[in-house]
Amino acid sequence: MKDQFGREISYLRLSITERCTLRCVYCRSEEGLCPKAAELTADQLIEVTRACAELGVNKVRVTGGEPLLRRDLIEIVAGIRAIPEIKDVSLTTNAQDLANQAAGLKTAGLDRINISMDSLDPDKFERMTNGNLMKVLEGIEKAIEVGLAPIKINCVLIKGTNDDEVRDFIEFTRDHPIDVRFIEYMPIGNDSEKVGINNQDILAAFPELEPVLSRYAGQPSRDYQIKGYQGRVGLISPISRRFCIDCNRIRMMSDGTLRACLGQESEVCLRPALDQGHEAIRDLIEKTIYNKPRGHNFGREHLNQRNMSRIGG
Ligand code: 5AD
Ligand code: SF4
Repeated sequence: MKDQFGREISYLRLSITERCTLRCVYCRSEEGLCPKAAELTADQLIEVTRACAELGVNKVRVTGGEPLLRRDLIEIVAGIRAIPEIKDVSLTTNAQDLANQAAGLKTAGLDRINISMDSLDPDKFERMTNGNLMKVLEGIEKAIEVGLAPIKINCVLIKGTNDDEVRDFIEFTRDHPIDVRFIEYMPIGNDSEKVGINNQDILAAFPELEPVLSRYAGQPSRDYQIKGYQGRVGLISPISRRFCIDCNRIRMMSDGTLRACLGQESEVCLRPALDQGHEAIRDLIEKTIYNKPRGHNFGREHLNQRNMSRIGG
């Protein structure tokens, strides 16, 4: 369905937990996480997705927190896969446990996967995320092996931290059939003074990056490739190239809160409707989609209420 500004909303980002095994510098503050007990059940998550599908959603990304922490992840993925209108089911993970779970996820019907990987240097990776880079690389290999493709790597560049690795990440696409996407840092839920990188500066510094058509319609990245390289480089530029005008998504958070825009505080609690039944759920989602705000105000104001591990990226 269309929202009040005529945008067709077809993409649901479904956060299934706020818990996470990592502590990425740009993402987490310690307090305010939705406890496990308050997470929607697998049945509720599937029910919400079904209602969204009836309203025109045909693409779902499972996010978190770290979705691989949910014990019932397979059930959730299979349940989403079974909804006929949903053509594309993907998942975003920090890949710490991906090597163990990739095969099961593929069997459950997952199409593809995005992996957060902010450094190619094991020590820096650990400093930035508290995680283990080797595990990520093993996870990537396993995902390729079982056919979770195309694999996309998300990299958030922070000035003075990992912005010296742009060339290494681009080189990573030479021999890997993988897309590396640079996501401009968004000032959400983070009160420190981190500064991101302007993606247009990357383009200027690497003129050998040639524009190519996006693999998927309606994705916010602009894609580039170096001739002869297997993978692509995507630029996701919420700050330097605001893409709200083409936004096609809504977000469901693991505690049952709907958020129509990542960059606006307005939220709708779906819990009461969940108790009332399918029609009430669909009506409330319909209203929320229609009222989706025009866009974010990053750059003009700083959002503090929820960090990314709550909203689900
Ligand atoms: N700014 C930009 N991207 C972020 N992510 C998490 N927090 C931020 C932020 N503040 C990215 C992560 C993850 C994706 C879901 O969102 O890299 O891959
Ligand atoms: Fe966890 Fe993802 Fe946030 Fe990193 S960005 S702390 S992996 S939820």
